[in-house]
Amino acid sequence: MTHPPAAFRAFVAEKLDDRVERGIRTFGPADLPPGEVTVRVDWSSVNYKDALATIANGRVARMNPLVPGIDLAGEVIASDDPEVPAGSAVLAHGYDLGVAHQGGYAEYNRLPAGWIVPLPEGLSARDAMTIGTAGFTAGLSIARLEARGLDPSDGPVLVTGASGGVGRMATAILLERGYETWASTGKAAAHEDLNALGVSGIVGRDEVIAESPRPLESERWAAAVDCVGGATLPYLLRTLRYGGAVAASGNAGGAAFSTTVFPFILRGVALIGVDSAQLPIAERRVLWERLASDLRPRALGDRVAEVTLETLPEALDGILAGRAHGRWLVRVAG
Ligand SMILES: NC(=O)c1ccc[n+]([C@@H]2O[C@H](COP(=O)([O-])OP(=O)(O)OC[C@H]3O[C@@H](n4cnc5c(N)ncnc54)[C@H](OP(=O)(O)O)[C@@H]3O)[C@@H](O)[C@H]2O)c1
Repeated sequence: MTHPPAAFRAFVAEKLDDRVERGIRTFGPADLPPGEVTVRVDWSSVNYKDALATIANGRVARMNPLVPGIDLAGEVIASDDPEVPAGSAVLAHGYDLGVAHQGGYAEYNRLPAGWIVPLPEGLSARDAMTIGTAGFTAGLSIARLEARGLDPSDGPVLVTGASGGVGRMATAILLERGYETWASTGKAAAHEDLNALGVSGIVGRDEVIAESPRPLESERWAAAVDCVGGATLPYLLRTLRYGGAVAASGNAGGAAFSTTVFPFILRGVALIGVDSAQLPIAERRVLWERLASDLRPRALGDRVAEVTLETLPEALDGILAGRAHGRWLVRVAG
């Protein structure tokens, strides 16, 4: 059992009137939040929600000032819970982390034992954060679709926002599992990478956000993984094959959408909501075991850019500006 050092670095976002001041501050043990498990944070990652937590109207931060970072991986240095002993390699994400509890962008953190996931065999802390909340959400989306019966023999599956964190991870996992996988992206620059990953085809963002006077169109997709929301969801619903489903996790393209009941009542399609943040810990630990084995994304290390606490703002600004292509990893301690 060791103690955190007297001084360590934390990246803080503080809302001051209508602006948010971001930068590195020096923290000490007294700044650690309550919890049974003290962790040295080796890696975190940058998710869309992290960027929202650092802007004035992002509606994510529920404390001020906030250390953002909705996921982290590292080593337990002290613990009051015998099930999570000092020296164990762990990860955590979701719940209040980086929202209403200090997040992953600090060299040390303290967490409730009930938030801790033991690092699965075969994944390093860096691998775990390469997958991160994005890969977890992608894996959960696919697990939900398969629990409803989706199988590679059913036909093509479309991933929207395919160049982003969730989308690219979902594309990689689907390909690994033998699905005919199609990608929707708004970035011409991402085509080469997605083709190299092995997608069967690319659908432009213009096509998936276009309005249609028709409540149903030709049946095209057996299923879809959608992290874009907005106008994209109505497109997916009206082009799903009979009995198909869309797993919806995000709103990068907007929150509101307008559709009709016809895809549901004439084609029996399903809209499956996916939430990684409040998923109960037992289910979360099982899914992480799968992310290290049968749901492990292909080409884990591809399209990963590393930033440090000092260079974090460029990634936070980039993800908000829609420049994400793959994942940004944050090297936190050391
Ligand atoms: N429900 C959950 O538990 C959960 C967990 C994680 C993330 N999310 C949500 O999932 C979404 C994606 O998260 P992420 O971390 O993967 O973000 P990201 O890396 O920024 O990816 C989002 C992608 O959406 C596409 N996109 C389409 N329309 C867009 C627009 N108008 N503005 C910006 N991007 C647009 C872009 O890909 P293309 O250019 O390839 O189209 C972009 O790269 C976010 O809404 C996030 O809040 C939800």
